[in-house]
Amino acid sequence: MTDQTRVVIFDTTLRDGEQSPGATMSHSEKLEIAELLDDMGVDIIEAGFPIASDGDFEAVSEVARRSKQAVICGLARANFRDIDRCWEAVKHARRPRIHTFIGTSPLHRAIPNLTMDEMADRIHDTVTHARNLCDNVQWSPMDATRTEWDYLARVVEIAIKAGATTINIPDTVGYTAPRESADLIRRLIETVPGADEVIFATHCHNDLGMATANALAAVEGGARQIECTINGLGERAGNTALEEVVMALKVRHDIMPWTTGVDTTKLMHISRRVSTVSGFPVQYNKAIVGKNAFAHESGIHQDGMLKNAETFEIMRPEDVGLSETNIVMGKHSGRAALRAKLKELGFDLADNQLNDVFVRFKALADRKKEVFEDDLIALMRDQETGD
Ligand code: KIV
Ligand code: ZN
Repeated sequence: MTDQTRVVIFDTTLRDGEQSPGATMSHSEKLEIAELLDDMGVDIIEAGFPIASDGDFEAVSEVARRSKQAVICGLARANFRDIDRCWEAVKHARRPRIHTFIGTSPLHRAIPNLTMDEMADRIHDTVTHARNLCDNVQWSPMDATRTEWDYLARVVEIAIKAGATTINIPDTVGYTAPRESADLIRRLIETVPGADEVIFATHCHNDLGMATANALAAVEGGARQIECTINGLGERAGNTALEEVVMALKVRHDIMPWTTGVDTTKLMHISRRVSTVSGFPVQYNKAIVGKNAFAHESGIHQDGMLKNAETFEIMRPEDVGLSETNIVMGKHSGRAALRAKLKELGFDLADNQLNDVFVRFKALADRKKEVFEDDLIALMRDQETGD
């Protein structure tokens, strides 16, 4: 019986994340990101799709060789050639995993033109083959959330009997919603024979902006592995963002009593590195790792923050690897924030001095979007020389 209070974090930045058009990373960049993931306590790193190219094969093999704690996983379609190639790459890891998948929804079944029975046989044969190579096998029915219930339950049972140790339920096109996500996992666990002997995973895409909510709901339903990427990198609107689920579980542990092994103080650094190497900027207001996630400009907020940070922040910036809250000086800032900022810069002002500077500061802030420390120093010099 696995620890039901622990959620396994499966990072697929280097596989699903890299599949984002334009997000290709070099060999050395992949090694760097894999090392950061391993060091921050991610449980499983999906390092690539070894059959996709020689470059991917080499990257997965090298990530596997250098791995420390994390399980190293490679992706393979449901055929022996893919699975063998995947094994050749991941076998160098201390803890390897083969992840094999096939599209099970009506739309996806039409692509290889297999009948339901033929696909079921294929699933049996390929999972058995993978399990003969590796004792850690993950199986995914791609587009599970648009697969007929009876067929989904049937193929999940086949995969478990054939030796899969993790069953991943992908919401490949970001179609599900939180209640449905929880119900689907719960129903599978309750009805499929053997379900209590494997781990169920959730793999959500963000097409409707619900990937994080759907992943957390799946955990409520019994999933104990969340598949995610740094910064939510991934095809189309991306995947569940690792930093969001990890911080949600940490900050709201009172109502979501599951833990992860991730050292959250490393989140900001890895977010910036993934953004740089993938060439995908992080939106300013992105939860947890956006430039503005811990920034305050309005006077009321700044005043509240100066008195007690919890007034407008539910997490401490240090918990995600930021040294401090960013008090942004702009036209919405008030006297209290200006006084505090100037004090930090070495100017301790009496009330009447502050009033004068405040008028000049507001005039400057009206012209500029943000007033930086150098601007304030210049303002103080002008004030002192009477300019
Ligand atoms: O979104 C998806 O279905 C996938 C599978 C390969 C797991 O990425
Ligand atoms: Zn995916």
